[in-house]
Order: sequence, then C-alpha cells, then structure tokens
Amino acid sequence: MYFPVYRPRRFRRTENLRRMIRETRLDVDHLVYPLFVMPGKGVKNPVQSMPGVFQFSVDQLIEEVRSVVALDIPGIILFGLPEKKDEIGSEAWADNGPVQQAVREIKRLWPQLTVITDVCLCEYTSHGHCGILEGNEVQNDATLELLARVALSHAKAGADIIAPSDMMDGRVSAIRDALDENGFDQTAILAYSAKYCSGFYGPFRDAADSAPKFGDRRSYQMDPANGAEALREVELDIEEGADMVMVKPALSYLDIIWRVKAECGRPVAAYNVSGEYSMIKAAAANGWIDGDRVMMEVLTSMVRAGADLILTYFAKDAAALLR
Ligand code: PBG
Repeated sequence: MYFPVYRPRRFRRTENLRRMIRETRLDVDHLVYPLFVMPGKGVKNPVQSMPGVFQFSVDQLIEEVRSVVALDIPGIILFGLPEKKDEIGSEAWADNGPVQQAVREIKRLWPQLTVITDVCLCEYTSHGHCGILEGNEVQNDATLELLARVALSHAKAGADIIAPSDMMDGRVSAIRDALDENGFDQTAILAYSAKYCSGFYGPFRDAADSAPKFGDRRSYQMDPANGAEALREVELDIEEGADMVMVKPALSYLDIIWRVKAECGRPVAAYNVSGEYSMIKAAAANGWIDGDRVMMEVLTSMVRAGADLILTYFAKDAAALLR
C-alpha cells in the first residue's frame, strides 16, 4: 500500500494518537543504578569524568540508596574499591570489605531492593588486570578460584545477583558450583557474557581506579568487530548456569543486544557504560544537545533493541523524568 492511500503522518498528528501506537516504552522497572563504594567514613568523592557520580563510603552510600529507593528504581549494582591493592586482589573477598558491608546494611534496610554485585579483580589488583598474572599473562584457570571466593563472599553478605565482569573462560560454572556447594542455590548469576574491549570504559576506570597498569584487556575482553562470537559467549554462559546475560557496552552494540535477545530465551541486560554517559553529559553541559532528551532517546533505543534491564548512571535522572 502506497501514498496517497497510506499516509503514516495520520498517526503522528496528536500526542494521543502517537501514544496509542507507540511500540516501546521505557519504564523505571528496567533500570539498575551502578554505585561505587569505598573504605572510610563520610566520603562522597565526585568522579571528575562522570558528573553526578560519586565514590561513597558505606554510610554515605546508604543515603544515596535511600534516594534510589524513593525513585522506585528496582535494583542497584555495586562496585568496590579496596583499602590496599595487591598482586591477587585479596581484599575482593574480605568479609568486611566495603561491598560486603554495604550489601549487609542495604539488605537490612531495604530487603526488597535487588542488590547486584560486580565480581572482578581489576579494582583490587595492584596491576589493574581482571585476573592474576604469571609474567605479563593473565592466568585463566588460576583466577577462577579467586572469582568464586569473591562471589561467595557477596552471596554470604546477602547479594541477590552475582555479576561476573572479568571475562575469564569458565567463570560462570566456577561461581555456580561455589554458590551451590555453600547453600546459595537461590543466588542468581548475571553474566557479562558479551563484554567488549571498549574505549567507552574510560571514565569508569577513574571511578573504580581500575585501569590496567600495563597493556590492555584485549586478551580477555571481546573484539568490537565480532558479532557471532557474542552468541557463542552467551551460549557458553547459559550452559554454565547464567540466569541472565549482558551485552556491554550498549549503544554501539544494539545489534548484539538484538541478536542475543532473539536467540537466547533469557532475560538480557544492557550496560549503558560510563563513556556513553559522560559523552552525553559533556555535550549537554556545553549546550550542544538537550541532555534529557538524548538520554531518553538512548535508553529507549536499548529497550527497542531488546534489553530487559539497563544498567545506567542515568537511572536516577530517567526515573525522575518518568514520574
Ligand atoms: C571491570 C569492569 C569495567 C566496567 C565494569 N566492570 C571496565 C573495564 O573493563 O575496565 C565498565 C563499566 C563502565 O564503563 O561503566 N571488570
């Protein structure tokens, strides 16, 4: 059917007409807010490269979580910074580490809030890599046992969902086994399955102080040029026991979100990463774009691509606008 019989503009005339045929709806239900927690008391450090994002000590974090809950955001993801880094990142599984303390306190105050914890070693290792080293090589299998320890310490503290972001092969089964052997069969795993080696993580590495001290992450994170490989990673993680999978970053990888959603039959999360956030904030601060409008457009595009969940530093801004 062609013009003049079919005139698409007929349904664009009024807001009510547009509302009635709108295909995608961004809802607060999709949003997860990332938070950075560090040792100390009374700490609320602004992250220079991420306007509106802070590093919090546990006491300050609680106040921030209060505002997240007030906006009816259903979940948060926690990243931790240690007191002191070492070769193997041993503070990552300390029962009294900032993440573990924060999880206990948050679950005590808001048992219904979904608490996801990021499991990785890069914030905790002196060299900034996501696994332990032999020479300059990141050791896959030796790292698995440590990741399982981290996951277990988070589960013990009360995390609902464990999210491994390290990209070691076999980490999902190592974590699933450790959780099950210790009676945490109800703790879910959200695998960062298709995590690309991306330049968009720059600002996060300031926030989490996790930039590698030498080299890069190309030997474990995915090549941005690959799509079919993402599907293999997803399949592998589901085989190993992932309950939910993630594509990261989101904006330059909407095709991957779409393909993963079409094939995997599991809930799919998208990580709207730090660089995607900071680009919009910077352009908006310069008056070059309308920040709120672009934020909503970008988040809607992720839902349209098939994301069930969006991890985003915009969660609070978007939730406030959606009210
Ligand atoms: C690391 C990790 C990274 C992010 C989350 N977990 C980045 C990295 O590989 O350095 C990035 C998140 C963001 O950019 O917002 N394991």
